[in-house]
Parts: sequence; structure tokens; C-alpha cells
Amino acid sequence: MRHLIDITDFSVAEIDNLLDLADKMIEHPEDYRDCLHGRILATLFFEPSTRTRLSFESAMQSLGGSVLGFSSAASSSTAKGESLTDTIRTVSCYSDVIAMRHPVDGAAMAGSFRSRVPIINAGDGGHLHPTQTLTDLMTIRREKGRLTDMVVGVCGDLKYGRTVHSLIGAMSRYKGVKFVMISPKELKVPEWVTSELTKLGIPFTEVESMEEAMPQLDILYMTRVQKERFDSEETYLRLKDVYILTPDKLANAKADLSIMHPLPRVNEIHPDVDDDPRAVYFEQVRCGRFVRMALIKTLVEDAASNGKPNGVPAPEENEIRGTVKCGNPRCITCQEETLPQIFRLKDADEKVYRCVYCDWEHKA
Ligand code: CP
Repeated sequence: MRHLIDITDFSVAEIDNLLDLADKMIEHPEDYRDCLHGRILATLFFEPSTRTRLSFESAMQSLGGSVLGFSSAASSSTAKGESLTDTIRTVSCYSDVIAMRHPVDGAAMAGSFRSRVPIINAGDGGHLHPTQTLTDLMTIRREKGRLTDMVVGVCGDLKYGRTVHSLIGAMSRYKGVKFVMISPKELKVPEWVTSELTKLGIPFTEVESMEEAMPQLDILYMTRVQKERFDSEETYLRLKDVYILTPDKLANAKADLSIMHPLPRVNEIHPDVDDDPRAVYFEQVRCGRFVRMALIKTLVEDAASNGKPNGVPAPEENEIRGTVKCGNPRCITCQEETLPQIFRLKDADEKVYRCVYCDWEHKA
């Protein structure tokens, strides 16, 4: 059964097909009005959301299906101590597809091991957010007419910003893409992201000044400093306003720059930028509904023909199972200790293995 846990679960051709379908849906929504009649989407949001949850719900209703779910862990049996995997096992008996958001890294992967229906990762902790990336790719393709040959600047909280991790994973598979990562040292992009770029030979630079980076950028992807992931309030307060995009900072930007943000924003884009024709963050919001329609339709129809639950993956040759504990305290395996610890070989020369849930790297 297909799930969407990481954007790289879909090939470039499959992503391009999803974007083509989403473009058709935005032009002719009436053609898809009843295609999932009688099907049910469950939205399990253990963490707050406006765009992702409501766009999933709007998407399913636009396809003729219906929706059930919860918008906080407090209103589910999680509050009584039920495990995530038992919750997923239960809800997958009531629905045809599940979109889940959880504050812990790797939660969606853990859910997929126990689900009878496709799981869509709607954000797992500070790790990944693949459906935001589909939204971003659709927006970029509609703005630029391509996903190749561009300089993508990502700015802000690159450590905990899950949208950035997924966006880099996706865009690095398109030819001619370079990344400029703009952040303070404390919020640099994690090593599991940069080591992949290095391995693939994708050019990237890491800088601290947004203004210096600006002239070369085709995309400026701003992000919020993720208050909810910080252990120290003092560190958050010191870093939260480190980048604030105002109209004057765009003086040296390209005329066809696209200014993006997954939203919600706090202070990092001043509202005076909203009227700049290069600001496309509310166009991202619009695309989110249609690309999620395309995704839900694709996964539900795929499950109807290939719908065997996957279960816990069978052991592979190049893996370590059960003998190494994940060193990421935010990994789901640190919360649900009955989950099998699984590390897969990432770099044979360096003997680097990765946790299958959260990508934390272990050197053997
Ligand atoms: N972009 C995004 O994930 O927004 P929400 O947190 O409102 O869902």
C-alpha cells in the first residue's frame, strides 16, 4: 500500500503527474466533484493547524467524500494514555485514508506500520511536511513554468522547519537547482539534510545575511522560528525576529523573484510585502487544496487496487534492528518503546546508518 511519509516516497515522474492532476482540478473542479463519493478521510491532528487540516477537509469534500477526525490530542483517547499505533489501528477501521499531524519526529512512519489504509504525513515534529512541499512545488511550477534551473533561498528556522527539509528533498531531484540556506548558526539545517545534498553533488551554501543572498535568488522561502520546538524560552526570544522581510530589503532582488512562506507567519514577513506582486504565499494556500485533492484521489484509488497493509517492514540485509537506540530524543521510538528500532545503511564507506523513523544518523 502506498503512503506519503517522505516526499521522496514519490518519484519525480509521480510528483509531476500529481501536479498535472492538481492543475486540471484547479481549472475544472466540477469534473472531480463525485469521484470519491462514499469514501472517508480521517484527519488526526495531534498538533494545531489551520491550513493543512482545513485544506485536507476541503479537498475531500470537493471530491464528494466525507471527513471525520479530531483537531487536538486532548479530545482523543491519547489523553487517556492510548498509544499512537493503537489510535491509528483503530481509526484505519473507520476510514479510507488518514492525514495525520503529530509533534514527534517519525510518528507518521510508525503509524504507517499499523494502518489498514494509506497514511499521509501532515507534519511530524521538526522532521518532514511532504504535503506542504507538494503545495510549494505546484506554486513554483505555476509561477515559473518549471521546477529546474533556479536558486532557492530558504531562510529562518532551518533546524526545526520541517517544510524546508521536505522542500530541499524534493527540489534537489530537479536539475540545475542550487540552494542558499540563510539562518543563524543555532538554526542551521540538520546534517541529515546537508549530507544527502553533498552525496548527490547538489550545490548549496550556508550564510547568515538575507540581504547579501538576495540578488541571486529566484525563490525566497521564508519560515517561522518554531517556538514550540525550543527547549529554552530565552533562546527562542533571542532568535525569533532574526529575519524580518520588509519592502526595503527587496531593493536588490530579482524582478521575477517568488517570495514564499508555508504560513503561519509571525513577524518574519512584514504585511507591507503582501502587495508586492512577487509575494505568492497566499497563492500557496490556494494550491494546497487542489494538490491535496490530487493526492487523496491518487492514494485512495491506488489502495483500492493494491491495498494490502504493509505491517512492520521485513528485515533487510543492510540494516541494524533492535540493538541500537535512536539518539534523537524527539524520535517516536523514544515515546513508544514497543516500536522496533530500525536503522538502514546510508553510507557504506562511512558506515552511516539512519533511523527509519526520524533520519537520525548512527555511525557503526
Ligand atoms: N503550512 C502549514 O502547515 O500550516 P498549518 O500549521 O496552519 O497547517
